[in-house]
Amino acid sequence: MKIIINSDFRDLFCLEHKRAQIYCFGKLSPSSAREYNNLIFLENSSSKINSFFPKALGLLNTSHSLLLLSEYAESFTNLSVILSKLIFPDRNRTQKIINIGKLVLRNLNSLQRHSFEIHLGSIEKGTVETLEKLKEIRKLSDPIKQNLIKKINNSLNIIPHASKGLSHGDLGSRNILLKKSKVFFVDWEYMKKDGFLFYDPCTFITYLVMRCVQLHISSKEVCCIEKILYNYLNETQNGLAKQGQLYDNEDILNLGKCNSKIETLFEYEKQLKTGALSNFLKQRKRQISYLTYSIEKDIIEQR
Ligand SMILES: Nc1ncnc2c1ncn2[C@@H]1O[C@H](COP(=O)(O)OP(=O)(O)O)[C@@H](O)[C@H]1O
Ligand SMILES: [Mg+2]
Repeated sequence: MKIIINSDFRDLFCLEHKRAQIYCFGKLSPSSAREYNNLIFLENSSSKINSFFPKALGLLNTSHSLLLLSEYAESFTNLSVILSKLIFPDRNRTQKIINIGKLVLRNLNSLQRHSFEIHLGSIEKGTVETLEKLKEIRKLSDPIKQNLIKKINNSLNIIPHASKGLSHGDLGSRNILLKKSKVFFVDWEYMKKDGFLFYDPCTFITYLVMRCVQLHISSKEVCCIEKILYNYLNETQNGLAKQGQLYDNEDILNLGKCNSKIETLFEYEKQLKTGALSNFLKQRKRQISYLTYSIEKDIIEQR
């Protein structure tokens, strides 16, 4: 087998075997082996999910680190690029973002449901870590923090368990590729076989909402997008309950929403301490303000 490196396309490689050529995506990273194993594991878990992730084609030793070769997602565009094009306000912008959000949530749900056996697991451990981060957040006032701690502890008493199964673990917009109504998930380095199912959709919604803030969409409109997407997620879950499948109810999703906002707020505050460019810092400050505002709003609404 021969590998042809095409210098025009940085990550695009061509494998040639007996005159047949296949294009593939190449990625050099210290965790290539882990990602390769995760992709192989996914491929062997169920044939129903193969259209959602790249097929692993090989792992090559290079002088730097291992090179992971995987199926090239041809004509797909990553969600980050799609969203950047929505910088100019137009009449349909909000609706377009909502439609994209629903499309991703629908496909993510299908991937998680068809991957492997879903079971229940205790949510206490992960939540305790989030509570530790909450204590360190500067932007939230002490009464709001006390309120959140009380709310999270109450939730843990009422709903100690949530559904576990496949979790991608890093569903930012750069790791989601779209081609019309097809959705493809890449970058499986942080995959968990035994993760909480609510983690991915809640993280995805939070990332999407943060991109909306970045696009200068008003807080009121961003809240509306967020609400519609959580309602959609809840409806999907209710649909599954009616079919007798394991599902996470609204209380668990509310806890997931709260956790992902706290985690994001914690990360963004940490980034403010780095000497980043002023444009980036302005953006982060707007995102932090939105998160603070929406966490306080959630507390009032969920009372
Ligand atoms: N299989 C693939 N086919 C085509 N493009 C890909 C593929 N995998 C990743 N990409 C593109 O390359 C970018 C970086 O790849 P990714 O696996 O996310 O690496 P990183 O770990 O550096 O985030 C993605 O945002 C996506 O646009
Ligand atoms: Mg990535």
